[in-house]
Amino acid sequence: MNILFLTSEIHPLIKTGGLADVSRSLPLALHALGHGVRILLPGYVGVQAQLTDIHCILEDFPYGLLPAPARLLEATLPDTALTLWILDCPKLFERAGGGPYQDEKGKDWPDNPARFGAFCAAGAWLAQQAGARLNWAPALVHCNDWQTALTPALMKFWACPVPSVLTIHNLAFQGNFPAHWCSSLHLPSSEFNMESLEFHGQLSFLKAGIVHANQITTVSPRYAREIQTPQMGCGMDGLLRRRASDLSGILNGIDELWNPETDVFLPFHYTARKLQGKARLKKHLQKKMGLPVLPDVLLIGMVCRLTWQKGIDLVLDTLEDWLTEEVQVVVLGSGDPETERQLAHWSSRAPERVRVVLGFNEVRSHEIIAGSDLFLMPSRFEPCGLAQMYAMTYGTLPLAHATGGLADTILPYRAQGHSVEGTGFLFENPVPHEFHETLGQAVACFHQKDVWNQLMHHAMARDFRWNKAALEYQTLYQTLLSAP
Ligand code: ADP
Ligand code: GLC
Repeated sequence: MNILFLTSEIHPLIKTGGLADVSRSLPLALHALGHGVRILLPGYVGVQAQLTDIHCILEDFPYGLLPAPARLLEATLPDTALTLWILDCPKLFERAGGGPYQDEKGKDWPDNPARFGAFCAAGAWLAQQAGARLNWAPALVHCNDWQTALTPALMKFWACPVPSVLTIHNLAFQGNFPAHWCSSLHLPSSEFNMESLEFHGQLSFLKAGIVHANQITTVSPRYAREIQTPQMGCGMDGLLRRRASDLSGILNGIDELWNPETDVFLPFHYTARKLQGKARLKKHLQKKMGLPVLPDVLLIGMVCRLTWQKGIDLVLDTLEDWLTEEVQVVVLGSGDPETERQLAHWSSRAPERVRVVLGFNEVRSHEIIAGSDLFLMPSRFEPCGLAQMYAMTYGTLPLAHATGGLADTILPYRAQGHSVEGTGFLFENPVPHEFHETLGQAVACFHQKDVWNQLMHHAMARDFRWNKAALEYQTLYQTLLSAP
C-alpha cells in the first residue's frame, strides 16, 4: 500500500526530539513490510545540502497554495532506500539559525501558522493530486503532531477520498494561533466552530486533526488512556473521549541504529554476553567528560530537552542531598535557559561529580546512553519516550516516573528471594522525595553486583525493535482502507 507520511523532523536531517527518530524508523519498518512510502518534509535550510541525489519533481503548485517560488524535490534519505519529498519554499522554510520552529533566541517564528499551514495544504493537495501529477497515488496519509494536523481537515473540506491517520506524539504541543489565521490560511469560516477548528477562540491545528482524521493514534497505550483524562488531556480530553473508538496507542519501536553491537558513534561495542565494551565505554565517557575514572562509582546519565515535561527540576531540587553519595552525573541537553544556568552552576560547583554539556550532540548522546550505569527520565508526562528504550538496550538501567510510555516499557525492580525482577526503577508520583527515594534504591542495587547484573541482563533481553509496532500500524491501515 502507498503511504504518504508527513513529518516536520527526520533523523539525520533535522531533529529536536523523538519525532525525528520515529519518522525515520517507522517508514523504514513499513518499507520492509513491502509498502511504498513517501515522506513529506519541509525544505529547511541545510536539508538539501545533506542529500546527494536531490532533483525537482514538481514546479507548479496551484496559485495561492504556497508563496512562490515553491517546488517539490525528491531525494533518498541517507543510508536508506526511503524516498523523501522535500517541500522547497524558501520564503517559509529557509531561515538562518535556530531550529525548525524557533529562531536562534528560542522564540517561535511568528509566521509558524503560515509555514505549517502551507505545509499541511501541500500535503492535502498531494494526497489528491500525486496520482495524476506524479504517478504515485497514496492509499492513505499518515500525519504526525500539530505541524501536519491541518491536513486531515483540508482533505475533508476538499472531499479527498483518501483516509488519514494522525499520530499524537505530544498533546502538549497543539499549534493554537489567533483566530485571524483562519482567514489568512483561507480556511472556510463556517468551520471555525467548536465542532471543528476552533479551540477556546483560537485556531487549533491539533484539534483540527483530532476532529477530522479517520484514525488517531498515540505513541503508547498508556498515554492513549491518560490523554482522555482531565488531568492529562491538555483541555482536549473531552474531544478525545468522543473519538475514543477511533483512538489507539501503538508503542514506538527503536531504530536499528541504536544497537550496542554496531553503534557507529561508539569506539567500543558489546553484547549482553560480552560486556567488557560497556566498561570501556564508561571509562571513555568519564575521561571525555573530565571526571575521575572510577569503575565502581555509579555513573548517572541524562539526555533530554530541558523542559518542564522532562522533570529535570526533580533532579536539581534533590541534587544537594544525594550528591553526598558516591555517584557521578553527566547531563546533555538544551532548552530552558534557567535550567541550563542551574546545571552549569552545579557543574562548576562540583566538577568532580557533575558534568554538563549544553546543546544538541548526537554522538555525545550515544556515548552517555551507552557509558552510564543509570539513566534518568523523571518526566512529568511522557507520551512514549525513546531514550529509556535505548538505555535498556545498552544495559543502562532507566530510573523514571511511572507515566505514559515509561510505564509501558520499564518493568520496575523487585526483589524475589534470591532472584530479582525488573529492567529499571520507577516511582509513582513526580515529587522530589519519591525521586530521591528511588534513586537511593538504585544506588543500593548498584552496590550488589549480582543484582545489578541480573537487572542489566533483563533490560538487554527486551526487544524494542519496530517489527511489532509496524505490523500494528499495518493492521490499522488495512482496517481503515476496508472500512465502508
Ligand atoms: P522527546 O521526543 O520528548 O524529546 P524521546 O525520548 O522520545 O523524547 O526522544 C528524545 C530523542 O532526542 C532521543 O533520541 C534523545 O537521545 C535525543 N536528544 C534529546 N536531547 C538531546 C541532545 N541535547 N543531544 C542529542 N540528542 C538529544
Ligand atoms: C514526543 C514525546 C516522546 C515520544 C516522541 C516520539 O516528542 O515527547 O515521548 O517518544 O514524541 O514519539
